Parts: sequence; C-alpha cells; structure tokens
Amino acid sequence: MSTLNPGKKLRGAVIGYGFISGKGHIPAYLERAKSKGDVEIVAVADISEGRRAEAARVLPGVRVYSDYESLLAKEKGNLDFVDISTPPCDHARIAHAAFDAGLHVLCEKPLTTTLDEAASLLKHAQESKRVIFPCHNYKHAPVVKTIREIIASGRIGKVTSLTLSTYRNTHAKGVTEWNTNWRREKKYSGGGIAMDHGSHTFYLTFDWLGAYPTAVTAKMTNLSQYDTEDNFSCVLTFPTGVAHAHLTWTAGVRKVIYTVQGDRGAITVDDDDLQLAVMESTGGPDVAQGAVKWNVEKQVIQSNWMDASHVSWFNSMFDQFAECISKGEWVGKEAKESYLCIQLITTAYRSAADGCRELPLATDVRL
Ligand SMILES: NC(=O)c1ccc[n+]([C@@H]2O[C@H](COP(=O)([O-])OP(=O)(O)OC[C@H]3O[C@@H](n4cnc5c(N)ncnc54)[C@H](O)[C@@H]3O)[C@@H](O)[C@H]2O)c1
Repeated sequence: MSTLNPGKKLRGAVIGYGFISGKGHIPAYLERAKSKGDVEIVAVADISEGRRAEAARVLPGVRVYSDYESLLAKEKGNLDFVDISTPPCDHARIAHAAFDAGLHVLCEKPLTTTLDEAASLLKHAQESKRVIFPCHNYKHAPVVKTIREIIASGRIGKVTSLTLSTYRNTHAKGVTEWNTNWRREKKYSGGGIAMDHGSHTFYLTFDWLGAYPTAVTAKMTNLSQYDTEDNFSCVLTFPTGVAHAHLTWTAGVRKVIYTVQGDRGAITVDDDDLQLAVMESTGGPDVAQGAVKWNVEKQVIQSNWMDASHVSWFNSMFDQFAECISKGEWVGKEAKESYLCIQLITTAYRSAADGCRELPLATDVRL
C-alpha cells in the first residue's frame, strides 16, 4: 500500500467497468468524494475496449488500463484498495494479485465460485494484513435495516422461521459491450440464480436468525438452453429455526417478498411495503377462543428495489469497508459470511444433484 496518502482519503481502482460499477459503484464514489471527500478513484481496468472508452468519457483524469495486471503494476503505489466488479470467475485471481500488491479488496458477490478459492482468499487476506470485504449490499437497503431494528427491539419475540423469495423475470444482464448473458454461462458465473443471488438471501438469513445454518436441502431446475439453473429452492436448518428460500429468473414480476416469524409477532415485506404484526394477549384462555389479537402496523420504506444498481445502498456498505480498514479487521464478519454463503451455495448444488439430499454445513471458517 502506498505511503503517499497523508489524509484519510482512500484511493481505489475499479477492476471491471460494467453495469454494477458504471451505474452503482462509480456514481456512489463520485458522490462520496464530493460529500465526504474520503475516497478517490484513480484508475480503472476493463478488458473491453468499449467499456474502457466509456470509463475515459465518464471519468476524465482517471487512468484506464486494459487488464488488472498492468493496472496493479503501474498503480499499486498510488492505491489503498481495489474494487473488483468483474464476473465471479475472475474474483479470486484478481483479489490474490491485489493482496500481493499490498492492497485492500472490496469484492462484488459472490466472493468466489468455489469454497477452496474462498478459503484461500480469506487466508491470504489474513496473512497479508489486508481487508477482504464482500459487497453484501442488501443489508443496506432501508427496508432491510428496518427489519433488523424491529428484530433487535424484541417486538416480534424470538425469530423462529423465515421465508425469502426473490422474483425476477429474467437473469440480470451485463453490459452489451462484453457478454451480456455471462450469468447463464457457468464458466463465467460458476452457477445460475443461486450463485448470482444466493449470497444476498443467505447473509440475510444469518442476520435474522442470529446463527449460521447446519444443514441444507435444495432443488433446482433450468427452463432455458443455458448450462445454469434459473429456479432454485432450499430449506436451511439453523440451531435457532428454519429458513425457506426461493429464487427465480422466470417470474412474472420483479420483487422480493420476505417474512420473518417470531414467537410474539411477524414482519412481512413486499419490496418497500412492510407490515408488522404483534400479538397482544386479550386475557382469554387460548387463541382459538380469541385470547390473542394482532396489532398491525403498515409502513412504506422507500428502498429503490427497482434500481438494480442499488447505488443508494453503496455508501452505507462502503462505510463498513472503510471501518474494517481503519480497525485492521482483515477478515471480519462480512468476509466470513461470504465464505459461508459460498459453502451454502456449493453444498446446495450438491444436494440438488443428489435428489435433494440434506447435507451438513460447517458453521465456522477454516483459515
Ligand atoms: N451487489 C449487487 O447488487 C450486484 C448487482 C449487479 C452485479 N453484481 C456483481 O457485480 C459483478 C459484475 O456484474 P455486472 O452486472 O456489472 O456485469 P457486467 O457484465 O455488466 O460487467 C462486467 C465488466 O467486467 C469486465 N471484465 C470481464 N472480465 C474482466 C477481467 N478479467 N478484468 C477486467 N475487466 C473484466 C467486462 O468487460 C465488463 O465491462 C458480478 O460479480 C455481479 O454478481 C452485484
């Protein structure tokens, strides 16, 4: 890492200037550079000529490279971190190269496409004393923050079960200048909707059930001509309860529906709409005779779900990354959870391939 940085400003390079960096990360960095002045993007690398031209147009003054190797060779002395926004197949080797160059790493999900790669990245981060931090940005959606606050307030009691459904009418498309359908090609993506979206679903279950799952059973189907699944369902067993997840790229609508069941109430979320139902005893002998009634509150919490770049969630997440850097938390909670997400996804694939057999999950991270 460079010693040229006198203030607290973090200087970064973005590797992969596609949809998420062009519409999400870069606009958020530019806004943050203006409002807080604690970040600056000095370089970008992309293998696509068209994307490099777009980066040069949008970011005058930023140095643009055709591959991450030449960027790291030339810029490592000017940088504190790299932001890896390429397809998942390249996350691990770019992150290893960044650690070798002495840089911190912010990495898009899924962290890697195999568990061995995830383990070796976490180990490398620890050994090189550099932060590895995954983009677990759904935790930063305003409505998701409210779910967390309600659970923490104790109003719904102890959480016992969850359902998390993600409906998409198609796979997310990458920029047209490279390979817009890479998410459907296993060699780039490592898998279909579970690999692409599973991390978001799974780190939310860890948070809401306050534990890590011990077993998974999964089923998946593919209605397309591609070599990856477009529908995925699983049941996760936790020491504290159970979670059901359903992810589809063949839905008739784009939305999330989450339910969180507690022993004194429940939360139901449909994108921005949140309903909180809290039990109230009426003093009668039992429920069947009307001993419980529910006080229901409804709120609308604007979370911009329809904007797939989730630009408005980015800087709350970047605060966490910056905090890990300042505290020297090389492999923090989010990084460990990204590993557990990869374990879950890859184990779920084995379960689905073996007639939905329930398979055990480790709840710790081997480093
Ligand atoms: N957290 C979220 O909400 C969210 C949303 C969208 C995408 N993502 C993640 O962001 C990553 C990128 O997805 P996207 O939708 O932006 O894809 P994209 O196809 O739009 O962009 C990928 C870019 O990376 C470039 N690229 C490919 N291989 C490269 C390499 N080896 N070195 C340098 N550049 C390379 C391509 O030319 C392209 O410009 C994926 O990991 C995806 O899962 C996360």
